[in-house]
Amino acid sequence: MKLYLDSANIKEVETMMSYGIIDGVTTNPSLLKKALPISGLNITQHLRKLCKIMKGKPVSIELTQRTHKEMVKQARNIIQKVKCNNIVIKVPVCTIINGKETFSMDGIKTIKSLSECNIEVNTTLIFTPEQALLAAKAGAKYVSPFTGRMDDYLRDTHRIKYDKKDYYPFQGKKNVEDEGIISGIDLVQQCVEILESYNTEVLAASVRNTQQLRECSIVGADIITVPYTVLQLMVVHPKTMQGMKQFDKDSSEEYKAL
Ligand code: G3P
Repeated sequence: MKLYLDSANIKEVETMMSYGIIDGVTTNPSLLKKALPISGLNITQHLRKLCKIMKGKPVSIELTQRTHKEMVKQARNIIQKVKCNNIVIKVPVCTIINGKETFSMDGIKTIKSLSECNIEVNTTLIFTPEQALLAAKAGAKYVSPFTGRMDDYLRDTHRIKYDKKDYYPFQGKKNVEDEGIISGIDLVQQCVEILESYNTEVLAASVRNTQQLRECSIVGADIITVPYTVLQLMVVHPKTMQGMKQFDKDSSEEYKAL
């Protein structure tokens, strides 16, 4: 299983790369909106820097255009301007027209066009296994089911109060489901099962806590992308801290000087 950092923050990416624990990076327009004012770079320089820090490991960059023609053009521009060979183009599975509730299949068409030109595609905003299947059939290298946001959706539609980071049980809650999906982890598992015979990797995204990360791995996600804070929290346990305190107390000065 591969572990990615879900961040566009240069310092965060540099730090986790220096620890040798990440296999890739995923970004999106919201993450870039937060990270750009911090770096003070223009978007092309910023993306190039992220790609360089990752030393050949994949960096997902999302398209912001919404028609097939514009999306293909934007993907080519990004690749040409950023000038790095580890770019993965992130394409929304279902595009909306003029910001309205009308959908189009231009995302799917774009996946096909880019994949045919050997441009790797990460299909984003996956909330059903059927969306994942369409993306895989069109040639996507990765599909990204949104684990935490699926849990949000289940809780919102069933009026369950929660905090964004709250754990939601993978086995779901009684009478809470969305067309047969009972939790974000269930969504990941169903994507894994439905894509068994495809070359498309399941990249679990929108992972908000360490337990969810572990469960994504158990149900067979190929890749899990997590925010910086979740990666940090993976190292923590109260008994580890307690044990550390005791070992510190029991270390003699002679031992410490060794
Ligand atoms: O990888 C997608 C991710 O950035 C979305 O996370 O927590 O906003 O649902 P979240």
